[in-house]
This record gives sequence, C-alpha cells and structure tokens, in this order.
Amino acid sequence: MKSAFSNTRLRAAGTATVAILASLLLSGIAHAQKDPGVRGGNPGAGGAVTGLSPSQQQIFSVGNQLYTQITSVTGSITGTRKGLGPRYNGINCSGCHTQPAIGGSSPTLNPEIKAANYAHATNSLPSFVTPDGPALIARFIYLDDGVTPDGSVHDLFTITGRTDAKSCNITQPDFAGNLARNNVIFRIPTPTFGMGLVETIQDASIIANMNANAARKQGLGIGGHPNYTADGNTISRFGWKAQDPSSLTFTAEAHNTEMGVTNELLTVERDETPGCVLNGTPEDHTNFAGKSASQVQSATANIAMFMRFLDQPTPAPPTQSTQNGEKQFKAVGCVLCHTESFTTGPSSVPGLGRVVTKLYSDLLVHHMGPGLADNIVQGSAGGDEFRSAPLWGLGQRIFFMHDGRTTDLLQAIQDHFSTGNGKYPDSEANQVVNGFNGLSPQDQQDVLNFLRSL
Ligand code: HEC
Ligand code: HEC
Repeated sequence: MKSAFSNTRLRAAGTATVAILASLLLSGIAHAQKDPGVRGGNPGAGGAVTGLSPSQQQIFSVGNQLYTQITSVTGSITGTRKGLGPRYNGINCSGCHTQPAIGGSSPTLNPEIKAANYAHATNSLPSFVTPDGPALIARFIYLDDGVTPDGSVHDLFTITGRTDAKSCNITQPDFAGNLARNNVIFRIPTPTFGMGLVETIQDASIIANMNANAARKQGLGIGGHPNYTADGNTISRFGWKAQDPSSLTFTAEAHNTEMGVTNELLTVERDETPGCVLNGTPEDHTNFAGKSASQVQSATANIAMFMRFLDQPTPAPPTQSTQNGEKQFKAVGCVLCHTESFTTGPSSVPGLGRVVTKLYSDLLVHHMGPGLADNIVQGSAGGDEFRSAPLWGLGQRIFFMHDGRTTDLLQAIQDHFSTGNGKYPDSEANQVVNGFNGLSPQDQQDVLNFLRSL
C-alpha cells in the first residue's frame, strides 16, 4: 500500500504536464493548478511529545496497544479484549485512525470492509461503504416519522452470527430506506494527533483570537463562535462540530458508539436486546488488582492518555513554493478561520505546557452554507456549522471535509463556497474562496503545495 503513495508526486507531475498542454491547446488558458496528492516519505506523526516521564511513556505505549487491539464480544478470541457490540462501526480504534500513523485518519483500504464480517458476523455492506472510500459513520436526521429530529449515530453493523455471540439476533438499520428518504448524513474520522496540546489551549486564548482582526473578518463576512459544553463552562473543541471537550470524553464516546464497549463514563449498552448483552457492565473498567498505573487504569483511560500524549504532526521543510503558498493563504484570509497557531497554557504534563501548537484552526464553528450543511445540531453548533478543520497533517491525509466528499484539495477549497437558501445563510468562507480563485494559477498552486507540506 505504501508504494502506491511514493509515486504520487511523479504521477501528479506527469498528469499536470499533460493537463497544461491540453488546456493550452484547447483554450490558451492554463488551469494547471493541481493537488500534488498525499505526501510520501516518513509519516511526520505518531510519536509522543517530548518530556514524558518513564511511567507516562509506559502508559503511552500501553494505550497505543489498546488503541490497536481488536475487541471481540466476550474476549474469548485469542489476542482480543472484550466489549464489542451489540452494535458497532469498527472493531478497533486504529482501524479508522491509522493514516499516516496510528492515531491518524481513514486509510486507503476502508476498515469497515473487514469489520463487517469479522468472526462470522453476517452483516451486509451498506451501499455507501466502498473499499477505496473513507470509513463513514452514519447519522439519521429524523426519526422514522420524518419530523422528530434524531441526529444520533446509527451503527452500521451488529454482532449477529458471530461465533462469540450465538444468542444475539438483531438486524442492521434500514440504510437503503433512509438513503432513499435523504435521511442519512456521514462523518469521516478526524486525526487525533496533538490532542493533549489542543486540550491545553486556554479558553481565554480562543476568545482573544476570535476577537482579533475584527474589522478584516467583518469585511469578509467571517464570524464564528465557540461550542460550549452543556454546562456552559468550557469551550468544546474536538470533532467536526467541536462537540466534545476532552480526550477522555471522546474516548468514552468512541468506545461506546463506534465499538459498543461500555465504560465508566458511558455505562449502559446502546442496545439492550435480550440475548445480545453478554457481559456485565461496564465492560471496560478500573482494575483494582493492577500493579502499575496502566494496569489499574481502564482501557478508556489508557487510550485517552495515549492520544493526549501524541505529538503534533511535523510539516515538511519549507520550499520557495510553500513559503509563497503560506503568504497567499494569509493574504486571501484562509488564516482568519484556520488560525496558524496557539500557545498552550501551563500543564501538569511537562511536554504539553507553553508549547506553540500549529493546528491551523480557530477552534470555533462557522456557518458553511447549504452546500456543506448536514442538518445535525450538536451543542451550539447548528445544522450548517462546523469547526474550522485543523489543517495540521493535511499533507498525509487522503479524504477531506466532514463527509469525505473529496480527495482533492482544490475541490475541498471550492466546497467552502455556498450561497444561502433561506434555511441557512451564505457560507462565511465565500469571499475568501473568491479571493483564492482570483489568485494567479502559480499562487494557487503554491497554496496547494503549502497545504500538502503540513
Ligand atoms: C468506524 C470508524 C471509527 C472507529 C472504529 C473509531 N473512530 Fe474515532 N472517529 C471516527 C469519526 C467518524 C470521527 C469524527 C466524528 C465526528 O466528529 O462526528 C472520529 C473522531 C474521533 C476523535 C476526535 C478527534 C478530533 O480532534 O476531532 C477522537 C479523539 C476519536 N475519534 C477517538 C477514537 C477512539 C479512542 C476510538 C476507539 C475507542 C475510535 N475513535 C474509534 C471514526 C471512528
Ligand atoms: C469561514 C471559515 C473558513 C475559511 C475562511 C476557510 N475555511 Fe477551510 N474549513 C473551514 C471549515 C468549517 C472546514 C470544515 C468543513 C466541513 O468539513 O464541512 C474547513 C475545511 C478545510 C479543509 C479540509 C480539511 C479536512 O480535514 O478535511 C481544507 C483543506 C481547508 N479548509 C482549506 C482552506 C483554505 C485553503 C482556505 C482559504 C482559501 C480556507 N480553508 C478558508 C472553515 C474555513
């Protein structure tokens, strides 16, 4: 699989040359700017922040193993841990979070293909799950009545038929029927690198950055606001709609929602059909007989700590082109939402405090117009609002935008543009996209090269 990427640049260069010639011949105008594709070479991600103590490093490596380990229903399959199902989207965290390193995003081969029939589960593949597509999780906009808002995740698969779940007999959701009614929306995995750093950015820094450059933002129609936690106390920052405040809460939810593993934050099964609940709950829990911190802690706590300690991705060395691209990225106003960096506040973990964190996000949610709207409300993020996606690690990512609608960065930029329709206002990015489209082909190419250097 790796070798498929290493030639991407060469192939892209060849295709670009053909494209230049073709467009010159056809129209005399060269629209040669092209996404150079996934950057080859070493993944600039997946390691721990510096300065961890030996016991923190030990938890990082245990958390890494648990993140990768496959879950089975009762743990009876060798090498697995228990808790899967009754409903699930994946069988391990790293299945969906592995590109370009463990902790990342969706890989070239969709992990849902393997998850569907693992251990003789009898699931059929919904039409939207394709081998070379991204891992997708599905939410329904409305309940079956078509009027009551739903918004929740409907897992793709069930444990029915598995060798370790003989007593369970439940059916998959009716995806075909809901697709026909336009009632399904999708999300792809976001990378989890640098989570501890993002957790350590102070709310005051986010607010100060929101209030900075006010005149320029106003002139371009850019707003944006934080998505506060339900108690209104702190700014949520993780997930496509900044719906989640911390590594620990996200891990608890992912454990329960993506894999069906009940845990000490979310203790009950999401489907309690008799015959399908095969373990005591919570399935993942503190182990009082453990002899070290990592043995005592639940898998949920160890995994949360693993992601908390993951360092930020390392960009490629700058070139003249990427430096000009960065300049244009700032000049047209991309940077007004994709804030270059924050410095973290003080931290109880030495490697996480006072660190310049180059995430390229303001951690605010913005109106993106009807074109991107998914009609799902999460906290104070409305149906058309999304977190400015952090752009770090972009160079080595395959799929873009919340639903993975494109693998092409140029298309991802154009997808920011959308005219209001009465239900939702214009996208806040419209004028910036116009600015980008007004750049010379070379400047646009430099922006793409800059993005692929991240
Ligand atoms: C079937 C695929 C799948 C599996 C398995 C999966 N995830 Fe995810 N993950 C996603 C998707 C999709 C999102 C984006 C969800 C959203 O924002 O709506 C996501 C987002 C996240 C995020 C948010 C990162 C950020 O900064 O936005 C974290 C953290 C995370 N997952 C952790 C985990 C952990 C831990 C596990 C294992 C317990 C796991 N995931 C298993 C698909 C998956
Ligand atoms: C008004 C704020 C805003 C502006 C301005 C803006 N973006 Fe975005 N950007 C977003 C949001 C929000 C998303 C996530 C949208 C979604 O997934 O539906 C996003 C997503 C992206 C993505 C996809 C990232 C991923 O993880 O899939 C790229 C690439 C990107 N932006 C680049 C740019 C560039 C380049 C510009 C300037 C031409 C720009 N953006 C201007 C808010 C903005």
